[in-house]
Amino acid sequence: MRAEGKKITALTAYDYSTARILDEAGLDIILVGDSLAMVALGHKTTHPVTVEEMLHHTKAVARGAEKALIVADMPFMSYQHDLKDALVNAGRFIKEGGAQAVKIEGGSEYIISVVKRCTEAGIPVMAHLGFTPQALYTIGGYNVQGKTTALINTLMEQAIELQNAGAFCLVLEMVPEESARLITEKLNIPTLGIGGGRYCSGQILVTDDIIGKYGDFTPKFARKYADIASVMKEAVLNYKTDVQEGRFPDEAEVFHLEGEDKKFMELKKKFDQWHV
Ligand code: KIV
Repeated sequence: MRAEGKKITALTAYDYSTARILDEAGLDIILVGDSLAMVALGHKTTHPVTVEEMLHHTKAVARGAEKALIVADMPFMSYQHDLKDALVNAGRFIKEGGAQAVKIEGGSEYIISVVKRCTEAGIPVMAHLGFTPQALYTIGGYNVQGKTTALINTLMEQAIELQNAGAFCLVLEMVPEESARLITEKLNIPTLGIGGGRYCSGQILVTDDIIGKYGDFTPKFARKYADIASVMKEAVLNYKTDVQEGRFPDEAEVFHLEGEDKKFMELKKKFDQWHV
């Protein structure tokens, strides 16, 4: 797609029904992002989510998507400890989770060796540079990355190393448009921007942000295409008042006995004699 100048479209999903909708809409990539820790599980950061939890959601997404490429995000400390751990955990997302690729954050020498080892083992890796949420505490907050020429230089070197190690794609998060553009132009692999501006090979966002379902925090780079939270709230309130006021269920929503009228009347008579 990059070679043909076609923009790549990617969004997150954490469950079967969302994955189905994204797949039917023709999204190229569905990421089971570790953002699910915050968006679906209610944690304050992405740190607490475990491999088992990510696997559980990856399996659900894999059941819902037929055409899109499914990428599973490797959670915090599932690949940072050592190469063996990284490979075993990455393998589980393919073997048990049904993903076709994994994503890992960072561009250190060690991360580059993880990308190399996974790729050699047949596990495609999506890399992730710029703002990397798992490094939130060392970065020191939700800050734009690669704002100086020295930092752009480091980002570029890491991006090229990740590509050379076998990464098939690179996510650039919260990076100035100029920096992301330069990196995109120099690489052979596609880049996916998330707050990376207009010149990346494609874009990736958190679905709950674009449909307006997750309201705790909406980043500047996420465009809200719908207000699902309001639609849901209105539906739930309507249901609640219908139940309270006896309007739900109605005739169309109930089942009736068929051909049992006589026997039912006899049974009713029998029960009428009971004094419980
Ligand atoms: O976890 C996530 O949702 C991500 C983003 C790149 C979308 O990593």
